[in-house]
Parts: sequence; C-alpha cells; structure tokens
Amino acid sequence: MYILGIESSCDDTSVALLDCSDDGFVVLAEKTAGQIEVHKKYGGVVPELAGRMHAENILPVIEEVMNEWRETNGDQNALPDVIAATTGPGLITGLLVGAEVAKNLSYLWNVPMTAMNHIEGHIHSVFVNNQSPISNLQFPALCLIVSGGHTELVLMKDFGDYTLLGKTRDDAAGEAFDKVGKLLGFEYPGGPKMSKHAVEGNTTAIKFPRPMLGSDDYDFSFAGLKTAALYWLRDNNVIPSEVEESHGIQRDLSTPQSSARDDVSLQDFCASFEQAVVDVLVEKTKRAAKKFSVKTIILGGGVSANPKLRTALEKMTEELPHFQLLVPSPGYSMDNGAMIAAAAYMRAKKKEFTPWQDIVVNPNWEVYDR
Ligand code: KG4
Ligand code: ZN
Repeated sequence: MYILGIESSCDDTSVALLDCSDDGFVVLAEKTAGQIEVHKKYGGVVPELAGRMHAENILPVIEEVMNEWRETNGDQNALPDVIAATTGPGLITGLLVGAEVAKNLSYLWNVPMTAMNHIEGHIHSVFVNNQSPISNLQFPALCLIVSGGHTELVLMKDFGDYTLLGKTRDDAAGEAFDKVGKLLGFEYPGGPKMSKHAVEGNTTAIKFPRPMLGSDDYDFSFAGLKTAALYWLRDNNVIPSEVEESHGIQRDLSTPQSSARDDVSLQDFCASFEQAVVDVLVEKTKRAAKKFSVKTIILGGGVSANPKLRTALEKMTEELPHFQLLVPSPGYSMDNGAMIAAAAYMRAKKKEFTPWQDIVVNPNWEVYDR
C-alpha cells in the first residue's frame, strides 16, 4: 500500500511516500523543509512565522516527493492509495496548512484520507525503515514519547488503543534542554548541542534534582530542573545578570556571589543536566513497564535521538530481558512525514478513512481520544 504522509504540526514541513505492508515500511521518497534558520533568532518556534513558512513550502515539497517517486516508479501519473496528514496536536497555524492541502489532494485525486495524531506518528516512527516489522509488535507496549512539545508515557494495548499513563505537568523534556541550552548561548534547538557536549562530561559534577522521581504516578516535571540549572549558572557567575532579569530572577543580595567554578566544565554541566533528565525518564518508564507487564517499550520523539537516553533504556531492557525495546532509525526521531504515513497503515488496512469534508484540525488532540 502506497501512503503519502504529511507532517506540519511544528516547524518542519515534511512529506514522505512509503510502501507499507505487514513486512515493513519502506520510504520511497521524502523531503523535509525545516525552519530552524527562521526561528532560531527568537529562541523558539514563532507560530505565525511557522504557518507562513509551511504555506510557502508545502506544495514544492509534495511536488518533489511525488516527482521522485513517479520517476523511480516509471509511472508519471501514479497516485498514492492513501493520504495521511497530521491534524493534531500541534500549532494550529501549521496544522491548518497541512490538513487543507491534504484535503484538496484527497478531493482532486479521489484518494481516501486519514487524519493522524502526531503522537501516534512518533509511536510508529520505530517501524520506518526498520528491521522489526509492525506485524511483530507484541502488546501491551509502553510508549515513551519525548519531544520539544511532549513528554508522555502511553500504554498501547492494541493498534489504536491508547491510555495516557502520565505526562509532563509543565515543560517537555526537549523544551527544558532547549531553554537551558539557550542560557548557555546555544542556538535553538539547544538539545542536540547539549547532548554533544555531555559526551565528554562528568555526570556527577553537579547534583541537579530529579523532579517527581519519587511521586506515585507517571507524571513528569522539568520546569524545576530548568530553574535549578539557571540558579546554578547564576550562583557561579556563568551567566550575566541581564539573563537572570529576562527570566524574572531576583538576585539574593544576602548571599555573596561565588566566583565561577573552574572545576566544572561546560561539558560537566551538560552531562549533569542530561543525566538528571534521563534518570527521571528511565525510572518512570521502568516502573510503568513492570506495573503493566508490558512486552515492548517504544521510544519516540525528538529527544529519542539522545544517546544517553537510548543507552540507559537499552541497559534497562538488558536487565529485564522480557522487554523488547524499539527506537526510531536514524533520522526518524525528529518530526517527519514518514512516521505519519506509518501510523496510517493499520487504519488504512481497516479502511478507517475520514471524508475530507469532515476533517477538522485539533491543536489539543490527545492520542487516546479518537
Ligand atoms: O519531535 P520533535 O522534532 O519536535 C516536537 O514535536 O517537539 O522534537 C524536537 C526536540 C527539541 O526540543 C530538541 O532539542 C530535542 O527534540 N532533541 C534533543 C536531541 N535531539 C533533539 N534533546 C536532547 N538530546 C538530543 N540529542
Ligand atoms: Zn514531534
């Protein structure tokens, strides 16, 4: 089955054409127009700009993917069997662009459409260009989805059957990486840069808190950790007072400022921060995996590219060998159109389509709600 996936919920206009079967999902053509250059001077994604960029990029990106596929296919009129577009959650400015273009194509080409949930896409990213086909998936599966907008633990009992076990009460893990990265002077997104510096660092150099590690639930919180990082930088004179002020921090004049710590390097700072995030993510995942006797653990979302998180989960599954760990192939952790096509496959097999006239975007769409 040929599925065209369209993703535009944040700052990537990403389109892919996949050949999907029970034996695997193979990407035949794909193209992503990123927007980091536009947003980085603002330190994060600006929704209005994102919408405009998606509108500019989406048709050329789709055209390129279709042309590439048709050329390799030898059929200049080839059409996909299904069009899948992200309709939530995400920024409404981007969702509208992707969904409206998909609706137009569905009408013009007379090809059925599925409205896809972005988180369901991240969950299925582990089957894109992967050795392990979707037909081997053992339920129940526990999905840890960690990105710039989300940090969620989702129990998947069957295809399309999701229960939200817990999520972040404030910042997403990727958002915390990005905000702390910004304090260090890294351009948006700071997460990958922090993880690169962390490789050489000492994870125990700074004792950052592990927020909600002991709480009797599967929720997360990263805002406090981010503030702890900010305070550490302030107290060690690493960041100037203007940065403190822009974060609304009142300097406590009763406490004398210590001089910059030369025994802690930038690498140590990044490694200590990263370890705190990873410890909480892994511990909560481990607890949920045991509690719900899951057979598979799926890691997805932009932060799933983080090597320390991957290694820690691998170690956990080695210690508890009855879990199978599935992670995205390189290049499919971040937002991409291929994962949206992949997520549509099981629905398309059951002919669960939505007429284009009925498709409405929902920026707050929860994965368990259909
Ligand atoms: O899934 P994604 O592309 O977009 C959202 O849906 O948010 O995730 C992007 C997020 C950013 O916050 C980025 O900093 C983070 O993923 N990220 C990382 C790494 N690579 C990407 N965070 C930590 N370590 C990484 N290696
Ligand atoms: Zn995402």
